Order: sequence, then structure tokens, then C-alpha cells
Amino acid sequence: MSKKRIAVLTGAGVSAESGLGTYRDNGGLWDNYDPMEVASIEGWYRNRSKVLDFYNMQREHLRNARPNDAHRAIAALEKDYIVDVITQNVDNLHERAGSTHVVHLHGEATKVRPENTFNDEDGYSEKAVFDVGYDAVHLGDKAPNGVQLRPHIVFFGEAVPKMEEAINLVSRADIVLIVGTSLSVYPAAGLYRYARQEAPIYIIDPAEVPLFDSRIVHIRKVATEGMKDFAGML
Ligand code: OAD
Repeated sequence: MSKKRIAVLTGAGVSAESGLGTYRDNGGLWDNYDPMEVASIEGWYRNRSKVLDFYNMQREHLRNARPNDAHRAIAALEKDYIVDVITQNVDNLHERAGSTHVVHLHGEATKVRPENTFNDEDGYSEKAVFDVGYDAVHLGDKAPNGVQLRPHIVFFGEAVPKMEEAINLVSRADIVLIVGTSLSVYPAAGLYRYARQEAPIYIIDPAEVPLFDSRIVHIRKVATEGMKDFAGML
């Protein structure tokens, strides 16, 4: 029998127990930084150094972070299922835990590209993307084509190029699992609505979540604990 498919939609909450801050919880990143200044396309053109510094800080946090048991439990699902991880996170902890198919809806903190490359040209100009690992990038750091490097991040105000791929994966899934997202940033927040009518939907989150669908089972726990419950429900 062929393996069933699980689409796992993750947000900042899955990495919280690795010590990476979420965005909208009390004391979260957006309490201390204005997203329109450090993570929007307008902010980029207003003050590139400020945006570069914000992502330099993110890379530095990531250098010291390790995958947690929730990342590992998601990777372990690949033993019995075809698993597509669709993450809003810009960290690389799913990959480091062993997940082999990860779609980064909002980009990747460890990557940069020239600021004049856009997604409508050649599907996010993947050819122009560089891996900088955890190193800092500064104003004046240029790509071989002589253009200033920018974070490979989907800024507020920009299109989400991987949405079509993500919709396709969610609509093929037999089971949908959502972990650690406040479901407040669209279009990513609407993805689970593409689940097939017969596909059960699980949400792992210690907080109240908006439940728009009677199929949704809310496991109200932190990611590492919730993943144990989820595994027991399969
Ligand atoms: P949020 O900070 O909006 O939401 C984090 C969610 O994780 C909340 O629902 C928390 O209750 C939950 N949470 C906290 N600790 C948890 C834990 N230990 N285990 C499980 N869940 C936990 O983060 P996202 O929904 O990921 O985009 O935010 C979406 C997007 O907004 C991000 O990708 C980012 C941000 O602006 C960009 O920067 C482009």
C-alpha cells in the first residue's frame, strides 16, 4: 500500500522550545521591533542597514539554536508517511532535524540575494540566491553582479512565491497538521482551507486558536508535548 501524505504547516511556535522567540506572543519579536521597519519592502528601501542588522541578529540566534523534539518528531513521521513541511519560519531547524522536504513560505534567514531580483522573473530567482550560513551581511556587501545583497526573506508587502506549491501540497494531503502559528499572516494562514474534505486537521498550540472548521482537533500543548499526543492519534 502506498504511504499516506501528511502536510505539516509550522510557525514560530515549533521553534520556541529551541529558544527562538515567536513574533506575537507577549515579549515576542514584534513587541520589540516594528515589522514595518525591519521586515517590509518599504522598510528595506528606507533603511537597508536596519533591516540587514535585524536579520544579522536572527542568523546569530540561529547559529546557537538546536532543533527540538518537535522538529525531530516531525522528521520521524517520514518513516511511515510522505511528509511535506510547509513552514512560515525562516530558520533551518526542520532541515537540521532531518526533514527532507521543507517549503519555506517566507524565505530563509541563512540566504541572501541581490536586491534587484524578484520572484516574477524566474520563480524567485533561485539561481541568484546565496547561502551565507550564519554570517553577517552589511551595506556595501554585493553579489557578483555588483548589486547590494538583501535577505532572502519575503518582506511584508511582497508576494509569497511558494504559495502555489504549498496549496498543491495541502490539497493532496490525507492529514493536515498545524504547529505553533497564530494563523494571523495571510496568505499562509488560509492554507489549511485547501485541505480535502475528508482530511482531518490537527492544531498543536498552547494558546486559544481560531477554529473555523469542525474537523479541527486542537491539541492545546507546547509543540514537543503536542507531537507526542499527535503521534498517538495516528
Ligand atoms: P506568531 O508569533 O504569530 O505565533 C506563534 C504561535 O505559536 C502562537 O499561536 C503561540 O501560541 C504559539 N506557541 C508559542 N509557544 C509555543 C510552543 N512552545 N509550542 C507550540 N506553539 C507555541 O508566529 P507565526 O504564526 O509563525 O513573517 O507568524 C507568522 C509570520 O509573522 C512569520 O512567518 C513572520 C511574522 O511576521 C515574516 O516575517 C515574513
